[in-house]
Amino acid sequence: MIREAVRVLVANWDGAYTVPSRRLYPHQWSWDSAFVAIGNAHWSPRRARSELLSLFGAQWRDGRVPHIVFNPRVPEGAYFPGPEFWEARAPSGAATSGIVQPPVHALAAWRVHQAEPNPAFLRRIYPRLVAQQRFLREARRSADGLISIVHPWESGMDNSPAWDGTLAAVQAGPMGARRRDLTHVSADERPTDRDYERYTALARAYRDTGYRRAGAFAVEDPLFNAAYGVAEASLARIADAIGRDPEPHRREAAAITTAMIAHLYDDGLFQARDATTGCAIRSQSAAGLVPLMLDDLPREIANALIGTALDRFGIGDGQLPSYAPGAAEFDPVRYWRGPSWLNLTWMVWQGLRHRRADLAERLAEGMIGAVGRSGFREYFDPFTLAGHGSHDFSWSAALILDVAAEHGLDGVPPAGGEVAKELGGLAEADEVGDHVPA
Ligand code: SER
Repeated sequence: MIREAVRVLVANWDGAYTVPSRRLYPHQWSWDSAFVAIGNAHWSPRRARSELLSLFGAQWRDGRVPHIVFNPRVPEGAYFPGPEFWEARAPSGAATSGIVQPPVHALAAWRVHQAEPNPAFLRRIYPRLVAQQRFLREARRSADGLISIVHPWESGMDNSPAWDGTLAAVQAGPMGARRRDLTHVSADERPTDRDYERYTALARAYRDTGYRRAGAFAVEDPLFNAAYGVAEASLARIADAIGRDPEPHRREAAAITTAMIAHLYDDGLFQARDATTGCAIRSQSAAGLVPLMLDDLPREIANALIGTALDRFGIGDGQLPSYAPGAAEFDPVRYWRGPSWLNLTWMVWQGLRHRRADLAERLAEGMIGAVGRSGFREYFDPFTLAGHGSHDFSWSAALILDVAAEHGLDGVPPAGGEVAKELGGLAEADEVGDHVPA
């Protein structure tokens, strides 16, 4: 499994970063690169550093890290919406989208440094990570201290039923272009055309304000805000390691946790909130469990989330569905409407490791089990473990390397065992050069 994971990551490597999937997502995606770096750190820290530096090479002057950095060698028609739709360029000259994704990159940078200490890398990436957070504070923070997103694509969980109500109110005409995703993946596993019409209408409206003003979709999402808090906690560690002041990051991390508890927590699950009306957007999305990643979450709230994860999401069986199976909107095979995804499970696994080691182990076995049954698919039916979406999906491969390194495969402890030996051998075999951007 480890050799196979590395084969996928090598096949998807584009010289300085990794495409999420050769055909479905043939450019660089923001949070995908963070997860890929976490996995690559175990066998090629050089690639992991290159992955993050290349993404931040396309950072905008205002600090935003675009959710897609387009590869100019890939034809315009290969992905929709492509560079002609977004009409956006980074100061580096790279064509990009104009929206963002959950900021999981500071955590990734810290994990890469832990795998192979490299203060020069940390010193280089730290100011960029700080600017990424500053953009979110300056452009997206409400009076209540929460960060909002302006498009379902920014949540990372695009097609979550949590967004159905807000999306239904979006006025949208025909897309005026052909979807490319359906060439690669069956229509019943992807968002509908109606969803796509609304996604493109929202993105076009935001583009037409110069990527400045939110339109009909402005939402405070628990996964995104948790990622923002984890980023500040990671920045505190990074600052400490390079002789900078960690205190402002610690204060910011504590403040976001407090704001999330005050405004998004409700009865065993964090909920999204409409940033325009202040009304809760009640759903059964597993995004509401991701705040378990926050180290400073009070014990009683963490315990309540764990209760929900067991009762409503059934994680005792080793799978974390992206939406609660008992809910009417649940669909086990359609994009973010129920299947289990490795990145979501990995984030909740992180939050459980120091709180409920027994459940963390179940999830680790569940991730390995899903890949063992169906390969490195994009998402999995949480009951049958059948694979869906693209094949050879990068973050599925990368995060399995992290799970294997931390947990072992087949319950074999990793230290000094087969996993460590295998990863060590692959590290020696990694002779592909980096093209780290200046
Ligand atoms: N996840 C979106 C897609 O499916 C865009 O980021 O293409």
